[in-house]
Amino acid sequence: MRNWRPFAIILLIILIFGYVFGQLFTTSHKIQQSISKVNQAAATDKQAPHVVLIAQEVDNPYWRTVEKGARSAAKKYGVNLEYVGPIRINQKEQIEFIDKAIASKVDGILLQGSDDEEFLLAIQKAKQQGIPVFTVDTDSSVDKRKAYVGTDNYHSGQILGNLIARSIKGKGEIGIIIGSQSALNHELRLQGILSILKKYPEIKVQDIKTSNISQFQAAQQAEKMLKNDPGIQVIVGTSALDGVGIVQAVKGLNRNDVKVFGFDDLPETRKAIAAGSIEAVIVQEPYKMGFESIKLLNQFFKGEKIPQNTFTKIQVLDRTGIKAGDHQ
Ligand code: BGC
Repeated sequence: MRNWRPFAIILLIILIFGYVFGQLFTTSHKIQQSISKVNQAAATDKQAPHVVLIAQEVDNPYWRTVEKGARSAAKKYGVNLEYVGPIRINQKEQIEFIDKAIASKVDGILLQGSDDEEFLLAIQKAKQQGIPVFTVDTDSSVDKRKAYVGTDNYHSGQILGNLIARSIKGKGEIGIIIGSQSALNHELRLQGILSILKKYPEIKVQDIKTSNISQFQAAQQAEKMLKNDPGIQVIVGTSALDGVGIVQAVKGLNRNDVKVFGFDDLPETRKAIAAGSIEAVIVQEPYKMGFESIKLLNQFFKGEKIPQNTFTKIQVLDRTGIKAGDHQ
């Protein structure tokens, strides 16, 4: 019988080598693939324009919705988006964020506008460095910013003014809480409301206070108003958390006869409308503001012509607009 052993050993060695080479080949192929993926990602990231979105308050649910819209557009259009903002409303910090964005040579800045002198200087500085600035939600001086995306705030105030006047049949005492004295959108909303109410000689605006866009401060201010002037029958708030703050005060004082009007449809606000504690609100489109501003900025980067003003839609939401179960 022939000795088969040496052949078997050689075959085994060949098989082992084959296996080891096979493994080496697959592993090196995988590594090559990962390296090329990383390189590709780095290349796209380098090409992707770097854009900063500066909120009024970084964790405010309204601004988080603007961010969501911007993020989804950033994904769609290949923009590298950074979202920043002060923890609590603070214009000085917003200006610092603009300065930081300019220093890091971003390709575009989206921000809540203001006509504060220092704020305008910062926008001007960005403009001088060739960085386009878009205002979102709130505008600022037209000659400094490239475009505005957001609500037509004066008009939204007029719509609210008409709703209020109708609900009290053109007669009664009113208190107004504005979100901020430094943000133009609240000033415009206030002027819009007043432009309608002044047409009714029997409507008296008894008090105007500021909440600093805080639910807690809205509650405090509403309580003060009602204590100073128990004749007040309507309180209106101009920022997203004011409505629910005012409801807190009204309930705390057992003044269920006071009608509350406000802005935006955050979940707590929807609940209050469903429960009948808020009469109606003006609903804005924060998600769309974020989405459209990135989309327009992207068009601008490509050299396309873009509109100076893009007004997002508003709607009135009252109890009839809340579907059963929607508020839970
Ligand atoms: C306003 C924003 C503001 C937010 C605060 C909204 O109604 O449009 O400017 O930051 O309320 O909660």
